[in-house]
Amino acid sequence: MREIRVAILGASGWMGRVHTMAFQTFPHFFGDSGGTARVVALGSTTGTHADLAFRAPGAKILDNWQDAVADPDIDLIDICLPDNMHYEVAKAALLAGKHVFCEKPLAETAAEARELANIAREKGLITRVGHAFPRNPVHDLAKEIIEAGEIGEITMFKGCQHVDMFGDPLVPYMWRANGELAPTGIVGDTGTHVFSFMEFLVGKVSSLIADNFIVTPKRPVVDGLGLGEAAELTGSEAWADITNPDGSNIICTFANGARGLVDFSRVATGRKFMQTYEIYGTKGSLSYTYDEVNRLRFYTNADPVGRRGYREIDVGPENETYAAFSPLPNFSVGYNESKIIEAAEVVRSIVSGTPMWPTFETGHHICQIVDACMESSRQKSWVNIP
Ligand SMILES: NC(=O)c1ccc[n+]([C@@H]2O[C@H](COP(=O)([O-])OP(=O)(O)OC[C@H]3O[C@@H](n4cnc5c(N)ncnc54)[C@H](O)[C@@H]3O)[C@@H](O)[C@H]2O)c1
Repeated sequence: MREIRVAILGASGWMGRVHTMAFQTFPHFFGDSGGTARVVALGSTTGTHADLAFRAPGAKILDNWQDAVADPDIDLIDICLPDNMHYEVAKAALLAGKHVFCEKPLAETAAEARELANIAREKGLITRVGHAFPRNPVHDLAKEIIEAGEIGEITMFKGCQHVDMFGDPLVPYMWRANGELAPTGIVGDTGTHVFSFMEFLVGKVSSLIADNFIVTPKRPVVDGLGLGEAAELTGSEAWADITNPDGSNIICTFANGARGLVDFSRVATGRKFMQTYEIYGTKGSLSYTYDEVNRLRFYTNADPVGRRGYREIDVGPENETYAAFSPLPNFSVGYNESKIIEAAEVVRSIVSGTPMWPTFETGHHICQIVDACMESSRQKSWVNIP
């Protein structure tokens, strides 16, 4: 049994806390045969040292990420920092010989993502991007059905993800809405989740046309509110320009000939979290909604005429990953569990030397889709993805 020593950067943020929990928790569900992990360092510019120390007793508390990269007693750098830091930190970590687990989006451009994937390949390091949604076992079931040919050739993918995190125009300005700190806005933030389902279940995207849009051009600058919480104005606030997209509507083609229709936004008032896909094929189709997170709807032409219709399949313990959490189907294996699955797979990858989806190669293709959305929307035309 090998123990992987992990440094979590951005440890006091949302993802930093979830990743810390996931590395500490996964052996409870998956055992230790694939290796274990110890969180040995936490880095953050917010949160007190005491608060961080409480999360991972014994871990070093770092004031800057460079100390983690330079530390010979760290095997894995886990990047939960704002998007604009991913490339710089991941590159330094890889060059220092560390395995890297990076939250999405992997980088700000496909060129940066390509460089990271190349360095990792040359150095023989394990990489992983935090596209955790498709690692819910219900999507293993979708992939099994697709790969068994049960829906035939895929002809169309429809997918969306909407939240109302910025639905209220008085939700304050923050890094997610800042085109310097998150240059691709909702495309890199939420779009990449939909793109990860596309890559996992359908394949590579070959061309697209996108219409990115900003709904609320200015927001008040108010500190200290929760994500999505609207400010009560005093009249003395500064106002900041929103410099990255709030939403996007996309039409695309896949290399295998399938067509795609995708939309996502952070301003869908009332939609607290909506994530869906429908995949149509020549023999059947699949449909999923996050509201029923362990359920897949499957339609097949193999059913007799007059008896055809969508059947609901709840993923259950026949799936090995699902079985780690529950002996009964449909027991709400949800978001945090998908992060626990991810942490277990990252450690198993490092210990076995076997890359597991989604690596930086996947992250690169997803960044290519993001680049194409930004370029297409600027040019108002179709863009090919090489
Ligand atoms: N996979 C997912 O489902 C998912 C969900 C949410 C966020 N994310 C991604 O995770 C990343 C972090 O998002 P979040 O919501 O956790 O953000 P957050 O704002 O909650 O946390 C950011 C963290 O980074 C730290 N930080 C900021 N600037 C820093 C600097 N210069 N040096 C060192 N530390 C710094 C902050 O102290 C904080 O700990 C983003 O890239 C985001 O896109 C992924």
